[in-house]
Amino acid sequence: MEKRGTVRLADVGGMQDVKDRLEAAFLAPTRNPELRKLYGKSLRGGLLLYGPPGCGKTFIARAVAGELGAAFLSVSVNDVLDMWIGNSERNMHELFETARRQAPCVVFLDELDALGAKRSRTAHSGMRNTVNQLLTELDGIDSATNEGVFVLAATNVPWDVDNALRRPGRLDRTILVLPPDAAAREAILRYHLQDRPIDNVDLDRLVNATDGLSGADLAYVCEAAAERALLDSARTGTVRIIGMKDLLAAAKEVVPSAEPWFASARNVAMFANEGGMYDDLVAYLKKRRKL
Ligand SMILES: Nc1ncnc2c1ncn2[C@@H]1O[C@H](COP(=O)(O)OP(=O)(O)OP(=O)(O)O)[C@@H](O)[C@H]1O
Ligand SMILES: [Mg+2]
Repeated sequence: MEKRGTVRLADVGGMQDVKDRLEAAFLAPTRNPELRKLYGKSLRGGLLLYGPPGCGKTFIARAVAGELGAAFLSVSVNDVLDMWIGNSERNMHELFETARRQAPCVVFLDELDALGAKRSRTAHSGMRNTVNQLLTELDGIDSATNEGVFVLAATNVPWDVDNALRRPGRLDRTILVLPPDAAAREAILRYHLQDRPIDNVDLDRLVNATDGLSGADLAYVCEAAAERALLDSARTGTVRIIGMKDLLAAAKEVVPSAEPWFASARNVAMFANEGGMYDDLVAYLKKRRKL
């Protein structure tokens, strides 16, 4: 558990369409229970963030908690399953009980796919019970006991998530979190360079040279650039600071970590876009000429 509201949406650089969707699908109805009643919009369910690795799902979930002034209770579903083998139902329940005590609280279920994927792979009998327990907790979201408990989940493989979890009233709203756009890359690069000795860095140019890289890749670029400068300094015996040359070279070397994800996402977009579930993904792939 951490302090309430340490990260806000304003700390998330760029990604305006994600912010707009968050506002419309989650934040506005959550803040206005009266309006919700008036328009009959159900607010029982939670929100599922999906997309390639390292592109800000966890960061955005934290920001949502910040916007709601809520505590943030993050749990990896794999931990729930593995740490207490045979006890995962009780753990799931305990988790929600803790959230109820801390309300307002965001429960963040990371690696949600673990529940679906493992179940089909191993026919683990305990898994059905864990899914059922989660369904029970989610279905209780509209009851008075769950007042102020908000459920967010994240996965890289939404197509592996048990369908029962995605029905109306459960994790029924979905937001695709893509590799950072230019404004987001600028914010991320700024953040990772702020405490490093840099000279004459043309941020716009670096932003343009890093299209397609994830947040995690960008962090790596800054680290690799620092390493280059450091090794150089050690070799020559003269300290030199990080320059544009180091950053561009590092950017050129890094392999975009989202690429393999898009390869599998492409198949899903083509062959398994049931009910338009992945329309956002299809639109993006078309725009990037990946479909
Ligand atoms: N729009 C953004 N503005 C500022 N920082 C960002 C943004 N997007 C991502 N980051 C930073 O990029 C890093 C990776 O983000 P995060 O860990 O949230 O990704 P993720 O999608 O949860 O990844 P994974 O799938 O591996 O869990 C974090 O350090 C985060 O602070
Ligand atoms: Mg994450």
